[in-house]
Amino acid sequence: MDDELARLWPAFGLRVTCGPLVMRPLRDSDFPEVLAVVHAGIHAPDLMPFSFPWSDARGAEMDRQFVQYHWRARAELAPERWQLDLGVWRDGRFVGVQGVSTRDFPVTRTGETGSWLGQEFHGQGTGTLMRQAMCVLCLDHLGFAEVTSGAFADNPASQAVSRKVGYRPNGEQRFARKGEVAVMRSLVLAPEDLVRPPYDVEVVGAEAFLELVQPRAT
Ligand SMILES: CC(C)(COP(=O)(O)OP(=O)(O)OC[C@H]1O[C@@H](n2cnc3c(N)ncnc32)[C@H](O)[C@@H]1OP(=O)(O)O)[C@@H](O)C(=O)NCCC(=O)NCCS
Repeated sequence: MDDELARLWPAFGLRVTCGPLVMRPLRDSDFPEVLAVVHAGIHAPDLMPFSFPWSDARGAEMDRQFVQYHWRARAELAPERWQLDLGVWRDGRFVGVQGVSTRDFPVTRTGETGSWLGQEFHGQGTGTLMRQAMCVLCLDHLGFAEVTSGAFADNPASQAVSRKVGYRPNGEQRFARKGEVAVMRSLVLAPEDLVRPPYDVEVVGAEAFLELVQPRAT
């Protein structure tokens, strides 16, 4: 996407292509399409896969909280703490988001992946493919030494994706989820364990993105 906005905000120039998937940061003009998928449902109403239960919001509250979350992530992006949420399009249709977040990256070289798909797009291998593509981006292009993930014990799909991509168990924590205890299973992926996707991963704009999160000379 060669445009003026990507020159001003280099994250917008990042683009990952993997077989049927195109992954790139969300722009404001994407929000209506993205929110239509969010409102159609991401998971069964009696489940809560996220440590912050953002998907419980409804209607206009969801719209505002969702766009504010993405604006905040852009506004607060800094070398000490950043997150990168890539919208995922499969065969041209928006299906979900694959993200990674990190703290003190120049030192730690680690970050945690998180993702969601519209419910109608579950169970078609997309969750696995987009995680593989994100791990290739992190490990091959952004200089990560490892990638972590976490999934509640009652989220077998997320755990299955992690296992298929090569993450290993890395302990458990008791977590307060909507006022009740829930076990969060931590996972860690070492570069040599990455199970690569069955397609080439093409990455454009990684260097410009990295410059955005480089420590500034003082
Ligand atoms: C987690 C998520 C992204 C996975 O995406 P997906 O496209 O459905 O996953 P895939 O189709 O790639 O399937 C991955 C594996 O999970 C397995 N799986 C799915 N549901 C399962 C279940 N209930 N029990 C056991 N395994 C399950 C699949 O069988 C598949 O393994 P296989 O290929 O060996 O059969 C998707 O389910 C989702 O968006 N869930 C709601 C949000 C969420 O949980 N986000 C993660 C928070 S940590």
